[in-house]
Amino acid sequence: MEPLGIEIEAPPGETVMDAVCSQGYFWPVGCAKNGECTNCAMEIISGVGRVSAMGRFERQNLVRQRGARSVEDPRLRLACQTRAEGDIVVYKRGVEPA
Ligand code: FES
Repeated sequence: MEPLGIEIEAPPGETVMDAVCSQGYFWPVGCAKNGECTNCAMEIISGVGRVSAMGRFERQNLVRQRGARSVEDPRLRLACQTRAEGDIVVYKRGVEPA
C-alpha cells in the first residue's frame, strides 16, 4: 500500500479497508463504511483485474459524488467495498497508524 509502503495480508472476503484497519491503521471515512460517502476512494496502481467487481451501489455513489466519468476508470474504487482477489497495490493518502 502506498504511499506508506506497507504490505498487508488480507483474509479472503475482507475488504481492502478492513484488512488495512485490522492491522492498526486509520483509513479516512465519512460514512459507516457502507459505500455512501466515497471518502475512502483509493487508486489501484497494480492488480486492477484482481479485485471484486464493482457493485451497483458503489457505482451509483461514485457517480453521485464524483461524476459519471469517475466510474470509467477501473482503478478508482471504494476501499470499503472492494475485496482483493490476489496481489494488488493501492494508493491512498490519509491512511496512517491509528
Ligand atoms: S467509507 Fe464511506 S464510502 Fe467507503
